[in-house]
Amino acid sequence: MRNEVISQQLLKWYDQMKRQLPWRENKEPYRIWLSEIMLQQTQVVTVIDYFNRFISVFPDVYTLADADEEQVFKCWEGLGYYSRARNLHLCAKKVVEEYGGVFPSCYEALLKLPGIGPYTAGAIASIAFDEKVPAVDGNVLRVISRLFCIDAAINQPQNHGLFVEQTTALLPDRVGDFNQALMELGATVCTPKRWKCEVCPIGQACCANQSQRVDDFPVKLKKTPQRVQKVAICIVRSKLNPSKLLVIKHDSGGLLGNLWGFPRYEMPFESEVLEVEALYGWFENQFGVRPKLLESEKGMPHVFTHIKWQTELLYLELEDEIQIDYPKMEWVNMTELNALALPKAYIKQIEFIKKTMTKKDEENAHTRTHQSP
Ligand code: ADE
Repeated sequence: MRNEVISQQLLKWYDQMKRQLPWRENKEPYRIWLSEIMLQQTQVVTVIDYFNRFISVFPDVYTLADADEEQVFKCWEGLGYYSRARNLHLCAKKVVEEYGGVFPSCYEALLKLPGIGPYTAGAIASIAFDEKVPAVDGNVLRVISRLFCIDAAINQPQNHGLFVEQTTALLPDRVGDFNQALMELGATVCTPKRWKCEVCPIGQACCANQSQRVDDFPVKLKKTPQRVQKVAICIVRSKLNPSKLLVIKHDSGGLLGNLWGFPRYEMPFESEVLEVEALYGWFENQFGVRPKLLESEKGMPHVFTHIKWQTELLYLELEDEIQIDYPKMEWVNMTELNALALPKAYIKQIEFIKKTMTKKDEENAHTRTHQSP
């Protein structure tokens, strides 16, 4: 099948099958940009609500550029990969300050904006501005590798040029729709597992399907496994006012940099059990005070891109809501805690703590009602 025929078949399918998504209502670059940043590493179903909420809080690039970083993080809370939110905000500022609030309309200029790499620049340039460039994301890599039986590993960046070339050769005039059609095909038909070649609009042209080797593509090199890190998460309350918890804004740089969270102690890998003295020493060194350990329990694990956290929740107490020696810290109650943009790794712990507290309360109530007078 010729490339033109492949593209037309795919467009015909897309016109019939495309999902109604809020960012497909019009071609406003702001909406296209926002959706594409949210869709990096996150599934369409998750993004829909976040997108609608974000648009209602920040309806245009000016409101976003004017916002506090905290407000932006709050709207992003739970989506993960917070550098995306930080870059989104930086990008909005740059578009307002350097481009008078109008998104640049070509691939090369888009590529210079914070948070916009080749895939996102291609998606915005083609969808919002009809520029004939490809947008090669993970879904497209899989579709193209199967369509042409390409055995270069898709997780090796040096191979991407090859996939970009093959995709570029397919681009028709309706390039924005075509790029989205490729992504849509990858998300709904040409899926990693349980692919549906019998309903694929380009199944007749697909090398992997025709040679019954769909399972062999895409080729991936084995990844190095995520490093396991044992992390003690410190839930610190004040003895005088136990409803208040200590939160800190992590230093910029490391993992979860610049985000609010709980003090965390990264335990040496070999240590099977928590060395309380080592923890006290670390805490004192970091914050200038010595806490008291009340209780500890296993917390919720969390997986980042390169690291797996095994967590231990440490319930610590300080005498008072002292101003500890740390650049940014607060004592907060539960409502204030909920208002902070906390990363998912911590939200999971809070939810876990609330659940275990409710369970304990119920158990206590049960014991009380069954006690003899
Ligand atoms: N994934 C990334 N961008 C997308 C888009 N515009 N439509 C569907 N899935 C996507």
